[in-house]
Amino acid sequence: MRVVVFGAGSLGSLIGGLLADEHDVTLIGREPHVRAVRDHGLEITGEIETTSYPGAATAVSGPAELAIVTVKSYDTPEAARALQALDTDVVLSLQNGLGNEEALDEALAATVLAGTCTYGARLIEPGVVRCTGAGEVTLGARSGGRSEAAERVGNAVRRAGIDATVATDMPRRLWEKLAINAGINAVTALARVENGALGDGPANDVATRAVRETAHVARANGIDLPDERATAALDTVVETTAANRSSMYQDLEAGRRTEIDAINGAVLERANDPVPVNETLAALVRAWERERKLR
Ligand code: PAF
Repeated sequence: MRVVVFGAGSLGSLIGGLLADEHDVTLIGREPHVRAVRDHGLEITGEIETTSYPGAATAVSGPAELAIVTVKSYDTPEAARALQALDTDVVLSLQNGLGNEEALDEALAATVLAGTCTYGARLIEPGVVRCTGAGEVTLGARSGGRSEAAERVGNAVRRAGIDATVATDMPRRLWEKLAINAGINAVTALARVENGALGDGPANDVATRAVRETAHVARANGIDLPDERATAALDTVVETTAANRSSMYQDLEAGRRTEIDAINGAVLERANDPVPVNETLAALVRAWERERKLR
């Protein structure tokens, strides 16, 4: 299958690199990462040790059977515009936050699938990505139900050795992933700790409260997400990605804008009842961004 991965940051590179063992993959990213991958291949270290040889470019060119979008949520509109130049049947969003699939669907004629990914990844240097937690990919029709395109993509992803589930309840899965990110990302970024530090103690309390608030908002928005399911998902991801620096921690470290608006900000936006933990986390990260003129 010819696959384009739009957004060769840490997660996009890891997933694209793993897929390249089985498929004809091109990573779309920035220099100097693109040049390093072209010259020496992509070195994957950590829980998975391999070198893979995807193509790499700074702009898309078609056709492709599948485009996987892994850019930051605030870059989704730009990704959607760029993907209009690609002749592709299916687009799969593997991004954090809510609303990415809608933005892609509005701009593109392709079938847009929703996906979540709990792999932990860190870009060490151009051409080198570390897998800090081998998680899983879940994908399916963005409004739920069965999808032939999702079955096809799920089989292709599994053929490359990635643990993938095709789900018929993606709206719930997206909210569950939102709850996980609402619990992990801002807390680990502000405390500058790896995900495993949320296993117990005060940081675990804050994360668990943010997750419960998110599950409450999900239910108020018609999604069947019990607190127990959401907190169990948090515990599992904290354990499987214990050595990972969350994407928001990596953003803060690199002085980059974060996905706070699409994570704790998205919970706030959709809440009718008070969500004090999400509100506090969003305010603190936004204050950091404002001070650095990132918003
Ligand atoms: O954003 C992240 O870092 C990831 O979605 C996750 C799963 C929380 C792992 O760190």
